[in-house]
Amino acid sequence: MLNNLIKKIFKTPTEKAIHHESQFVAYNYKPLPVLLTRAEGVYAWDMEGKKYLDMMSAYSAVSFGHSNPRIVNVLIEQAKKLAMTSRAYHTDKLGPFMEKLCQVTGLDLALPMNTGAEAVETAIKAARQWGYMVKKIPENQAEIIVAEGNFHGRTTTIISFSTEPDYRKNFGPFTPGFKAVPFGDIDVIAKAITPNTCAVLFEPIQGEAGIKVPYDGFLRDLRKLCDDNNVLLIMDEVQSGLGRTGKMFAFQHENIMPDALILGKALGGGLLPVSALVGTKEVMGLFVPGSHGSTFGGNPLACAVGLEALTVMEEEDMVKNSATLGEYMLTQLRGMNSRLIREVRGKGLWIGVDFDPKYVSARTVCEKMMEKGVLSKETHETVVRFAPPLTITRAQIDEALTVVREVVRELEAAL
Ligand SMILES: Cc1ncc(COP(=O)(O)O)c(C=O)c1O
Repeated sequence: MLNNLIKKIFKTPTEKAIHHESQFVAYNYKPLPVLLTRAEGVYAWDMEGKKYLDMMSAYSAVSFGHSNPRIVNVLIEQAKKLAMTSRAYHTDKLGPFMEKLCQVTGLDLALPMNTGAEAVETAIKAARQWGYMVKKIPENQAEIIVAEGNFHGRTTTIISFSTEPDYRKNFGPFTPGFKAVPFGDIDVIAKAITPNTCAVLFEPIQGEAGIKVPYDGFLRDLRKLCDDNNVLLIMDEVQSGLGRTGKMFAFQHENIMPDALILGKALGGGLLPVSALVGTKEVMGLFVPGSHGSTFGGNPLACAVGLEALTVMEEEDMVKNSATLGEYMLTQLRGMNSRLIREVRGKGLWIGVDFDPKYVSARTVCEKMMEKGVLSKETHETVVRFAPPLTITRAQIDEALTVVREVVRELEAAL
C-alpha cells in the first residue's frame, strides 16, 4: 500500500530521488529537475536513460568533456602511485605542473589551491602584502578595487565585496578594504584609485553577471591605468580561462599581461577541484613559509590531473574550436530575431542569451530545453548561458540550436 502511495506521489524514479535528496541536503541551490547518473564527452544521461546535450559543462569545469579519457587515465595511474602528501614534503608532480602553468600564462611563479574561491583569497592576500611590502601602504589601509556585478566565490571576505544582496544577506559583518565600481567604466575606476589602492581585481568578462563583455580596449585601458598608478592588475579567469573565450586566457584578446591570474574550474580537468594563483615574481615572491597554505593544494593527484588537462588542451586544439564554433553559435543565436530575446553576447564558447522578463523567465527557457534534451542553466532571472565542453562539434552545436529555436518558437506562440 505504501509502495502504491509512493508511486502515486512520484511519477518517476527521478522525482523520487530528487525528493529523497531534498530531505538531506541543505537548500542552497535550486537545480533543474534532472538527476544525472552518467556522462561521457558532451552528453549526460539521467536515471531513466534519457540523453542530454550538456551546454553548461559545470560552469566550465568540464571544458574537456565529461570523463576525458586521457585525463581519467592519468588520474587512475597517479591515484595508484601517490595521491596525497600535503605540502610537508616535495613530490615529483608539483614542479612540472607549476612550470606548465607559468609557461602557458607567461607568468613567473604559481601557488596551488583547490577551489576558485581559495585562489581568489590567495590573490587578495598577495595583493595586500605587495601593497604593504612594496608599495608601502600604511598598515591595514590597503584597498582593492572590484567591479559591480562581480562574482568571485562565496567566502565571507569575497561576499564582502559582492554587490548582489542575496549573496550577503545575514552573513555580515563584512571584511573592509574593497571598493566596487561600474564594470567597464574606466573613468570611474580611475577616480576610485587612491594612494592606498594595491590592486584592481576584475573578471575580464563577467560570467555570473550574465556573460557581460566590456568594450574593446577596456583591458588595455585598465592595464595602463594600473601602470600609471602603481596598482596591480589581477584577473580572475576561473571561468573565462583555459580556452573558454576562444583564447587560452581572455586577457590575450587585448595583448596585455596581468600581474596575477586566478585559475580554477577547468584546471581540474573536470575531475577534481584544482585552482591556482599565478603571478609575477614581484608579487608571488613575497610569500614565505607560514604566510599561506592548504592541506590539499598542490597534492600529486591534482597536479598530475592539472598538468594533463593543460597538455590535452594544447595538443587537441580546443582553444581554436572554442573560437570557431563560438563565433558560429553567436551568429546563429543573434540571427534568431525573436522579441523574447533582448541581447545575445559572448566570446568563444561562452554565450549569454538575455531574455525579456516581460515575456519569459530564463528558468522557464532552461526547463523547456531540458525537456527536449539540452542542459543549460539560468543566471539571474533573464540570462540563459551556453558554455559547452570545448570538445563539442558543429553538428552538436546545431543540435542545441535546433532545440533553442523550437523552445523560443513555442514560447512565442504561447504569448
Ligand atoms: C570568476 C569566478 N571566480 C571564482 C569563482 C569561485 O569558484 P569556486 O566555486 O570553485 O570557489 C567562480 C565560480 O563560479 C567564478 O566564476
